[in-house]
Amino acid sequence: MKLPVYLDNAATTPMDPKVLEEMLPYFLENFGNAASNSHVYGWTASEAVDIAREQVAELIGAHPSEIVFTSGATESINLAIKGVFENYKEKGNHIITCVTEHRAVLDTCEWVENTGGKVTYLPVNPEGVIELTELENAITSQTILISIMFANNETGTIQPVEEISKLARKHGILFFSDATQAVGKILIDVNEDGMDMLSLSAHKLYGPKGIGALYVRRRNPKVNISSQIHGGGHEKNMRSGTLNVPGIVGLGKACEICKMELESEPGAVAVLRNLLERELLKMEGTKKNGSMENRLPNITNISFEHVNGEALLLEICSEIAVSRGSACSSVTTKPSHVLKALGLSDTLALSSFRMSLGRFTTLSQIEYAVQTIRTIVENHRSNMH
Ligand SMILES: Cc1ncc(COP(=O)(O)O)c(C=O)c1O
Repeated sequence: MKLPVYLDNAATTPMDPKVLEEMLPYFLENFGNAASNSHVYGWTASEAVDIAREQVAELIGAHPSEIVFTSGATESINLAIKGVFENYKEKGNHIITCVTEHRAVLDTCEWVENTGGKVTYLPVNPEGVIELTELENAITSQTILISIMFANNETGTIQPVEEISKLARKHGILFFSDATQAVGKILIDVNEDGMDMLSLSAHKLYGPKGIGALYVRRRNPKVNISSQIHGGGHEKNMRSGTLNVPGIVGLGKACEICKMELESEPGAVAVLRNLLERELLKMEGTKKNGSMENRLPNITNISFEHVNGEALLLEICSEIAVSRGSACSSVTTKPSHVLKALGLSDTLALSSFRMSLGRFTTLSQIEYAVQTIRTIVENHRSNMH
């Protein structure tokens, strides 16, 4: 077995080899610029982009014309929030989000505040879910956007997006959902779920890094966002820059595969995740964080009491790749803002680990992980006394 066992699929997924295969010709013989419309090199690239746009749209129930390619979810999030904030200034300057959002959302909201906007950060209940009454109470005549993630990257907890979208509709407010962790893992339909904008990223769904998309609703209502990267007017003027054709082809293929796998993969992954979780929770002084009912099939987050989180992670990491908090903030030793919002103490938050499974996780890997983590935690605890 290749060590360390990879249980950090929420940070990034390995590429599906079928995705790489699809991309390769677009680095080599089909290298054209998708915006070159006077020769076959350009046409070939442009056709490949069209197909990928359909594949991405298909996975989330959107129309291909509603897909804007970006460099990843962070950029999509910036484009959605700043794009609405700048374009709907006359209507208002207030945005509602939630304390457990990814830093890409929180930091963009901080930018909004520094630029004269107002932001309400909703708390979450101990399960990690927002209260709809608090959301409705936070709405003012100035509210232009509700930005609530689909599923949390540290706990997998799913927010009640359908109800949120109904509230947003009722008050004539746009609803953006950062669905970076949820797309490809569970069924999403932007029309049934009611999102006006949605962010996704290829490297979380077995595609390449550095490519993602923003879904932008084109009718009922038509959403207009200001571009954040100016230039040649690509992507309907919403995101300029020569298209990353191999990346886009990879994202498209990754979405196509996810769509095909959606019927069986989530169930199979959940079986392994549940086994891991059940076995680890049999140990004394362990606790599961986040909702047990509304959650992604691939993530679990477990606190270990009576350990030194830092030291324990060092002991585990050569055997099992897990993480504390999200990848972008895991270099810091600050306790996770998500777990703190759920009511955990700093110490407990620092000794909590996210384990995230994926398409390529096997039963023997999970059995190895259970055995190894148990032994390491027990040894660690006895050494501490
Ligand atoms: C919920 C969530 N939003 C946004 C991002 C940022 O995605 P990207 O790496 O594509 O910029 C991530 C990835 O860490 C995430 O988990």
